[in-house]
Amino acid sequence: MTGFGTMQPVLSLEEVSKSFGAVRALEDASLELYRGEAHALVGENGAGKSTLVKVLAGVYRPDEGRLLVEGREEVFATPASARDAGIAVIYQEPTLFPDLSVAENVFMGRQPLRSGRRVDKAAMRRRVEDVLGPLGVKLDPDRVARGLSIADQQIVEIAKALTLDARVIVMDEPTAALSAYEVERLFGVVETLRNRGAAVLFISHRLEEVFGICQRVTVMRDGRRVLSQPLAGLSSDDLVRAMVGRELEGRSSHQGAEGGKTVLSVERLTREGVFTDISFEVRSGEIVALAGLVGAGRSEVVRAVFGIDRYDAGRVLVAGKALRKGSPSIAMAAGVGLVPEDRRLQGLVMELSIASNVGLASLGRLARFRLLRRAVEQRFAGEWSARLRLKYGRLSDPVSTLSGGNQQKVVLAKWLSREPRLLIVDEPTRGIDIATKAEVHRLLVELARSGVAVLVVSSETPEVLRVADRVLVMREGRLVAELGHEEATEHAIVAAATGQREVAA
Ligand SMILES: Nc1ncnc2c1ncn2[C@@H]1O[C@H](COP(=O)(O)OP(=O)(O)OP(=O)(O)O)[C@@H](O)[C@H]1O
Ligand SMILES: [Mg+2]
Repeated sequence: MTGFGTMQPVLSLEEVSKSFGAVRALEDASLELYRGEAHALVGENGAGKSTLVKVLAGVYRPDEGRLLVEGREEVFATPASARDAGIAVIYQEPTLFPDLSVAENVFMGRQPLRSGRRVDKAAMRRRVEDVLGPLGVKLDPDRVARGLSIADQQIVEIAKALTLDARVIVMDEPTAALSAYEVERLFGVVETLRNRGAAVLFISHRLEEVFGICQRVTVMRDGRRVLSQPLAGLSSDDLVRAMVGRELEGRSSHQGAEGGKTVLSVERLTREGVFTDISFEVRSGEIVALAGLVGAGRSEVVRAVFGIDRYDAGRVLVAGKALRKGSPSIAMAAGVGLVPEDRRLQGLVMELSIASNVGLASLGRLARFRLLRRAVEQRFAGEWSARLRLKYGRLSDPVSTLSGGNQQKVVLAKWLSREPRLLIVDEPTRGIDIATKAEVHRLLVELARSGVAVLVVSSETPEVLRVADRVLVMREGRLVAELGHEEATEHAIVAAATGQREVAA
């Protein structure tokens, strides 16, 4: 893919800067997008990717620098002006109107009217079918948005972009919450968009996706562009080096551990229609991974164990004592911690400071001594942010000002620091950059070796292989396999998760 040099970019940013108080989120950042390319934007958590996207989307006005569409300077005063210029943004978690239909969401604010100013529903439905058809996506235009999977919600946003004839489509970590099948489908859609001449800007922490669908890449570090070039000829090590600005230490894989006393016993846990007859144990000192496809029921099981969700039959024991069901506070008192899958909704108090959020779980008992609490909190949060390479302005800033990946690190810090007896982590590194992923894995192993029982839910097979002493595989609400450290291979896990027969090697 060369030859872009002589073409005019459909969109370019020239030396754009954007600060939030003392934080320079973008510093002389530049980017050129060409028709027909899928362009990857990568960088560590807090590198400035989402801020750049919001500049393109008209959400933020840059402090300095220029934005050009087809070579002409534009100033986007609002998201609507970016949209009118043909720039569509698909966020990781789209914000649809739940009570409106798919078609109504696609045409929100610009419904085709029939005579007498009645909305022409049939025309809307046809247009939606027309744009979804060529993408190979089946989605009923009349169904309400409530209950659509995140993948389908993204498709609705893409349909919106297509009916607007967007020439630039930006996807900010679109695959983070998708199953393997949905990722494949999205890649097909990106290919179609590209063939129609659109430019796609694709943000992801998964480099195999970047290599799979993109032709060029821009790497950002600390708000600046450090590299923009064709992907052909680059290796993922090259990208990582550019992202972190140094060599990464080799990945440590660990020996399987046996585990000590049983900390968690789950006995024949059943929730009708969700999961059936789930039994397993987690011992002190070991890491057990719950693997399987998105939707296999893994998160539902751990939510039931922790008391967030109810269950119909079976029981949960911690250190030999039955846990009363349906009460997270009782689970916590018994020494259980849960880092939930959806961190932004369940893990953080957005308006509180970074320091208070880190301290939330462990410093509760200091609550009566405000000044002492403050000081301890600051020190404590400082230590944990250093360990997790948190990127922030001040520890007293609201946690809402952190980048997506850095917010997730705060949730992790909050629970890791509490030193629970049993720690359950659901998708521990979703949205976390490569450099920090290795650090999180190391922390989980360290935690287990100090005697904590760790239960990890993860859809990323490499992650499962790296941390787990034992792997339990779920499929369609049932436990279908248990693999020891030696037996757990990528092939064995995928075969069990998808229900393929194990093929003799
Ligand atoms: N509204 C805001 N107020 C204050 N600081 C902000 C705000 N938005 C972003 N920042 C800061 O700007 C920097 C860049 O954040 P940004 O969200 O662009 O990172 P990112 O590259 O998208 O990271 P991630 O991979 O974690 O999503 C971070 O240090 C972040 O804390
Ligand atoms: Mg981001």
